[in-house]
Amino acid sequence: MQSSSCREVWWMPPLSRASVPFSARVLKRAPVATDVLLFELGAPEGKTLPSWEPGAHIELAVDVGGETLLRHYSLVGDPVKAGTWTIAVQLEPFSRGGSRAIHEQLHEGDVIEVRRIANHFPLVDAPSYVFLAAGIGLTPIVSLALAALKTGKPVRFIQLARSEDRLIHLDRWPALEGAAIERVVSTEPVSLPRLLESVPPGAAVVACGPAGLLDALTELSRDQPWTFHCERFAAPDARPGATGENHPFKVRLTRSGTKLEVPAEKSLLEVLLENDVPIDFSCREGICSTCEVGVVEGEIDHRDFVLDEDERARGDCMMTCVSRAFGRHIVLNL
Ligand code: FES
Repeated sequence: MQSSSCREVWWMPPLSRASVPFSARVLKRAPVATDVLLFELGAPEGKTLPSWEPGAHIELAVDVGGETLLRHYSLVGDPVKAGTWTIAVQLEPFSRGGSRAIHEQLHEGDVIEVRRIANHFPLVDAPSYVFLAAGIGLTPIVSLALAALKTGKPVRFIQLARSEDRLIHLDRWPALEGAAIERVVSTEPVSLPRLLESVPPGAAVVACGPAGLLDALTELSRDQPWTFHCERFAAPDARPGATGENHPFKVRLTRSGTKLEVPAEKSLLEVLLENDVPIDFSCREGICSTCEVGVVEGEIDHRDFVLDEDERARGDCMMTCVSRAFGRHIVLNL
């Protein structure tokens, strides 16, 4: 990862991309801010929930009018608190209905399918940390800040919200008291240069929140002595592709031996689905990692916002919704 660059996520050591379909039961459901519900999940009888790392998220299969949507939610809190998981779900009025279905249909005692747990937003090593959590962007930041506090390094925690009723109160996680906490409640955009003018050299500024805020932080971070790392809920406009244009390429699937052609005007995911290749997908924007597949052969033109530089360099996986072959063919572990 480059200094002062935004580590794009939606979301890994052995846990990274672990595929673990299983059921979780809703133990508690509680409103914690306007339009935000907190759900505590536990394993059905006789089972245990998988362990997780700070920054991880889970993928839930949500039934919306008979259609299964895959939705991603950061695990909130301390992974050491074994036995239960906590997620926070904000009602998104302009979404396809996943959050509304959860708000309206998921109650205590209900069981929901968890398709997988993944982490593309691990804590980076740094001499000090500044965490910036805006609105529901708080969710991945809590576990990262708790992990940073355990290192004994200085931790500053800035929470941004448009109004008091939209603040998720941090006293739910008492260990966060070890951080220098600042709350900024304002409907006006905050001055980021002023807010971050005292960030020491080498510090990691770690943020999650609306795209506009993350874009502004990415821009600001270009000339700073600190590094910037963020998780996005939506893809930015600029797609980080290597070639800048699409060209057709051939695909071979190792397990079935199927050979396919991906024309310039279609994504690899579209072609796989058109040919009835079973593959999950969700965001179609390169931010959730649901459509990730293993790559056996061929160079990849990575265009996602999930993989970091090391993961890209390994060249052993790709997000089929946005990434393409760099050359004329690619071989997938499908
Ligand atoms: S990264 Fe979300 S569907 Fe491809």
